[in-house]
Amino acid sequence: MHTMVTTRSLLRLLTCGSVDDGKSTLIGRLLFDTDNIPDDQRAALERDSRKFGTDGANIDYALLVDGLEAEREQGITIDVAYRFMATPRRKFIIADTPGHEQYTRNMATGASNAALAILLIDASQGVLTQTRRHAFIANLLGIRDIILAVNKIDLCGYDQTVFDTITDDFSKIEKNFRFDTITAIPLSARHGDNVVQSSAAMTWYQGPTLLDHLETIEPRRPDTGPFRLPVQWVNRPDAQFRGFTGTIAGGQVQLGDRLTVAGSGQSSSVARIITAQGDAQQARAGEAVTLTFADEIDISRGDLLAAPTARPDVGDQFAADLIWMDEAPLLPGRPYLFRIGTALVSGVVSKIKHQIDIAHFEHLAATQLELNAVGSVNISLTAPVAFDPYEENRRTGSLIMIDRETNATVAAGMIRFPLRRASNIHLQTLTIGRTDRVARNRHRPAILWFTGLSGSGKSTLANLLEAKLHADGVHTYLLDGDNIRHGLNRDLGFTDADRVENIRRVGEVAKLFADAGMVVLVSFISPFRAERRMARELVEPGLFHEIFVDTPIEICRARDPKGLYRKADAGEIRNFTGIDSPYEPPEAAEFVLRTADSTPENLADGLFRAVRQIITD
Ligand code: ADX
Repeated sequence: MHTMVTTRSLLRLLTCGSVDDGKSTLIGRLLFDTDNIPDDQRAALERDSRKFGTDGANIDYALLVDGLEAEREQGITIDVAYRFMATPRRKFIIADTPGHEQYTRNMATGASNAALAILLIDASQGVLTQTRRHAFIANLLGIRDIILAVNKIDLCGYDQTVFDTITDDFSKIEKNFRFDTITAIPLSARHGDNVVQSSAAMTWYQGPTLLDHLETIEPRRPDTGPFRLPVQWVNRPDAQFRGFTGTIAGGQVQLGDRLTVAGSGQSSSVARIITAQGDAQQARAGEAVTLTFADEIDISRGDLLAAPTARPDVGDQFAADLIWMDEAPLLPGRPYLFRIGTALVSGVVSKIKHQIDIAHFEHLAATQLELNAVGSVNISLTAPVAFDPYEENRRTGSLIMIDRETNATVAAGMIRFPLRRASNIHLQTLTIGRTDRVARNRHRPAILWFTGLSGSGKSTLANLLEAKLHADGVHTYLLDGDNIRHGLNRDLGFTDADRVENIRRVGEVAKLFADAGMVVLVSFISPFRAERRMARELVEPGLFHEIFVDTPIEICRARDPKGLYRKADAGEIRNFTGIDSPYEPPEAAEFVLRTADSTPENLADGLFRAVRQIITD
């Protein structure tokens, strides 16, 4: 005798819409009518409905979920609530996200796993800006199946023409999306029509109820694509065992299958598949596994194991769509960390191609992206990574961006296609190298990076130091902000974005001078930590020395050598550092010079002795 085990499939879905659309009532009704509310909670609900309900003596289903909504409004709870529901046919995880405009970020979080979205439309309101926005984000995040839940149809007399107008309106904007299925269902969450029971009041509607549809729809499956395993860690308890652990992000694997390490191209065949239940013959997308191989091949954390016949892209440049989630705007050229699969790489948004107006599907010109903005960008990383277009795999095709200073997640991104620009530009090997130049100069190169407010004394100190080094036979060059801004950086102003580019360029120039063997002094306000760090990381460790000219702003203002503070205070100059544009003092500068406590001559002398040591030791 044998027993048959049927596992109910799991459907992850997202609900979008606001409280006004009846979202809470719909979710409450769905849970209630499918017997997913425990008895004690049912009793409490009936009590509460009489006391606080908005529906007379009837049950107010919204009370089942609105507690959370209220907390959320005060900013207390997490942004996305997950609810569980089970019927004899299927299990469901419902991601419930608040619907206000500023919550794009939350929707992105809830949608990242979901296969399907329920988009609530208030029958009396029709297709609103918010509807378009939600549909756009759901689609952007790879949701292929959408349900238009046309709610409150009872308030419109269960009228078919109301429903038809809404489906017509939506079909007019449909071309902006790529959904596999769009299913419109007229319903009343309050009275239960077409939620779980089909409606006697709408005989004109022949389609499924909401639950019927949820129980029968077959969304695309992630385990049908080519095999992908982002390696989370290398498990090496002793010299005999070497396993590679991660969650399968696409396809399936069987014992004996050949797999390729995307980055290096090395291949081997799978010797063991170890799951939580022990050794297995095969495994599929969504499962956490440890694989071992027949041969010793080099695999590290961050690598992507792939089917050899359908390999992912490997590159350091690609186009992506970003949802910006930080209060501070995205600045092109500023370095961020990018997490793609299990790889973590530094990189920049090299270009914002356009921002997308997600309510009207229009492209807007943009130099930065603000909170909740969606933009199409090009990304350039410092090292190649393996990835797929998001269209093909939502795991290996997505990225998150992390601010290096705050460690906050600042964006979610969908990779669209690789850019091959850099692949035809090969680095030229040069005959004369670093050691040749050091031998000729009789000193090592260095970058001495002066940072501080306008009028802090950077240029004065840099000049004094350069004169001393020069007199001592050191090959020097001084890059000064005011001077470079007359030539190379003539096209840049003082917005945050321009300052980022200003420092990026001078960082590259300083690197070239250092490469030429010189001691290069850089005197720029360079107000942001992120860009000073970028300049530091352009060169090998030990070459870059940050010198913080620490002068309180009151003293700079009193000195006012160029009369700029007076103008800024009078409102004649905008974005002036320290007044209406920030200065982020260094946290770990190699040198801190307090000009208020000492003479420039003294400070320059001390620096000279220290630098001498650094370059000749
Ligand atoms: S940075 O912030 O991008 O590093 P940089 O050092 O190149 O600035 O240029 C600063 C110089 O430009 C100042 O010394 C000052 O003479 C001049 N300047 C003109 N407008 C401003 C402004 N809004 N903020 C700061 N400096 C300004």
